[in-house]
Amino acid sequence: MTQDLSQTAQEILRRNDRGGYTVPTHGLYPYQWNWDSAFVALGFAEFDRDRAWQEIETLVSGQWEDGMIPHIIFHKDDPGYFPGPSVWATGKTPPTSGITQPPVLATIVRKLWEDEGADPTNPRMIALYQACVKSHRWFHTYRDPLGNGLVMVTHNWETGRDNSSEWDDALARVDTSGVGTYQRRDTGHVDAAMRPTAVEYDRYVAILQFGRTSGWNHREIADHGPFRMLDVGMSMELLRANRDLLVLARALHDTEVVAELEARIALSEAGMDWLWYEGVGAYCSRDVVTGESSGLVTNASFLAFYAGVGTQAQRQRLIAALERMTKSATYLVPSLEAGSRAYDHKRYWRGPIWLVVSYMVAQGLAEAGHDDWAERIRTDSRKLIELSGFYESFSPETGAGSGGPDFSWTAAMWLAWCGK
Ligand code: DGY
Repeated sequence: MTQDLSQTAQEILRRNDRGGYTVPTHGLYPYQWNWDSAFVALGFAEFDRDRAWQEIETLVSGQWEDGMIPHIIFHKDDPGYFPGPSVWATGKTPPTSGITQPPVLATIVRKLWEDEGADPTNPRMIALYQACVKSHRWFHTYRDPLGNGLVMVTHNWETGRDNSSEWDDALARVDTSGVGTYQRRDTGHVDAAMRPTAVEYDRYVAILQFGRTSGWNHREIADHGPFRMLDVGMSMELLRANRDLLVLARALHDTEVVAELEARIALSEAGMDWLWYEGVGAYCSRDVVTGESSGLVTNASFLAFYAGVGTQAQRQRLIAALERMTKSATYLVPSLEAGSRAYDHKRYWRGPIWLVVSYMVAQGLAEAGHDDWAERIRTDSRKLIELSGFYESFSPETGAGSGGPDFSWTAAMWLAWCGK
């Protein structure tokens, strides 16, 4: 079975390859997505190393002059997706969206480089290192409103956890009166019960329109945008990515960047407590405007281990939350704890399991000495694919696949992690 599934996983990556970049899945997502490509590179690395590097190099070809790596690169137009390049209207070449996505790139570049012997003169690593330094500086310049090393997002799509209930209260304040009419495409590809609702989509579009009206002025968006949250996921991911970038900076004897990253890491380590919510014993996202915590336990809460934060007592509470999840979920790690408001085991980020987050959570748990939990998550992830195939996400209750089929990053996770 492992052999067959590995074969299928490779075929999915080859089939979703559009020449130098991979689409997340045919139909639903017909362009290059930022964090999808980073994880996909790990999959390619298992059988075609050149193609792994190329995936990231193509992504970085869309980096803006200010350092932002956009969340979508529209290499070729495709009428099957909304909002496409003409809606974003960023005026970039290649056309891109105007927002970013989870900064996992530096972590993956480090891994590719180390797996090839960690040669400090590797020109592919050096070029990508420079792109990551620029991208991380962009986060620090535009997305750290409290100056405490946490990441503010200005669109829920930036988090990758698009419809997490963590955003519900902030999204409810978004004025949608000027949105106008548009035609969604996602619900033509997959069951609407697995996608965000119409009301939610209007809010997503309204936030996009604010950015477009500002001429994609990131200062204006950061100071006045209609949606501003400190995302627990991206805060953890950027801290981790800064640690990995630091390894590269040291290997390159880039002393200025080493000092900059050391300071940033110390700031984020101390700042992370702002996201700790004692009521549930977990790290949760917080609204920049109201200061309110979501108070929700999500799969992103467990990225604390991956980021290397938390006191002994905080870590024990996180493990207790994981333990609690096993009572309601057959498989780990659900994107929202069952029983939380708006929990729905089929609807996107309100319950379903996403293997890329599970991978990061398991990696962090293993590094922290929780090998039993890391192995439980890996085994569950493996079972989900064996049971249902390479879906976008999976029900934590039944293991059924949800969203798009033949998904690139799920195939990559099989090859690089749970199918090994
Ligand atoms: C979508 O179209 O749902 C994407 O997740 C946005 O990035």
